[in-house]
Amino acid sequence: MKLIISNLKMNMTLPEVIEYEQELSKVNSTNEIVVCPSYPFISYFKNNNYKVGSQNVSEVVEGSLTGEVSAKQLKSLNVKYTIVGHSERHKYLSETNEQVSKKVNILLKNDIIPVICIGEDTSLANNVETIEKELIEILDNVDNISNTIIAYEPVWAIGTGVIPDIDSIKRTIKYIKNLIINRYNAKVKVLYGGSVNPTNIDLLNEIEEIDGYLLGEASLDIKKFKEIVEKMEVI
Ligand code: PGA
Repeated sequence: MKLIISNLKMNMTLPEVIEYEQELSKVNSTNEIVVCPSYPFISYFKNNNYKVGSQNVSEVVEGSLTGEVSAKQLKSLNVKYTIVGHSERHKYLSETNEQVSKKVNILLKNDIIPVICIGEDTSLANNVETIEKELIEILDNVDNISNTIIAYEPVWAIGTGVIPDIDSIKRTIKYIKNLIINRYNAKVKVLYGGSVNPTNIDLLNEIEEIDGYLLGEASLDIKKFKEIVEKMEVI
């Protein structure tokens, strides 16, 4: 079973969320569909056809920290997955890998599956070196790696409409899986994210190492999202 995560980012108002949810609840899949809305809308997503996730969590357990949301609170809203360390948070909110590790550990303690985003920021760089450094900085401080999921998202592919060539995605995902087996003796699912759309999904589906997708832009349009879900049914 593959994972299809819709990351709605900071989009949609309440009426739009309600409309989106109505359509989403009609989507059937043999894969696991996860929707990650903004915090205020999490409790509007309550259908058995999908799971609900969050886009972030506080690195602090609980208490006096205005504006933050704890893993325990998310758990009480039935959140099953949480995206951590998205490149937009690194870039615009200066989130560090140390913070990401703390978030991952807090999520694991609350039985929420962390979806850890990693990826190189230029197509010209030696992506494997950047990815290894990022992975190690985050995972060396994580207690139960087997219960995490990695989302490989080349930063330069996010929201640009461009994806790396298929061989390079395949190579990088294999590399990530091997690194985690060799260094931590753990097996994890690795998703691909960055400009996945109904046009390139068939090509991506040929990469058997991919355990699912983290979708941004394409998931905002429920028609495109459905199309991607349907195209994943045939494999
Ligand atoms: P995109 O975003 O699909 O719009 O490229 C992916 C992501 O940010 O996770």
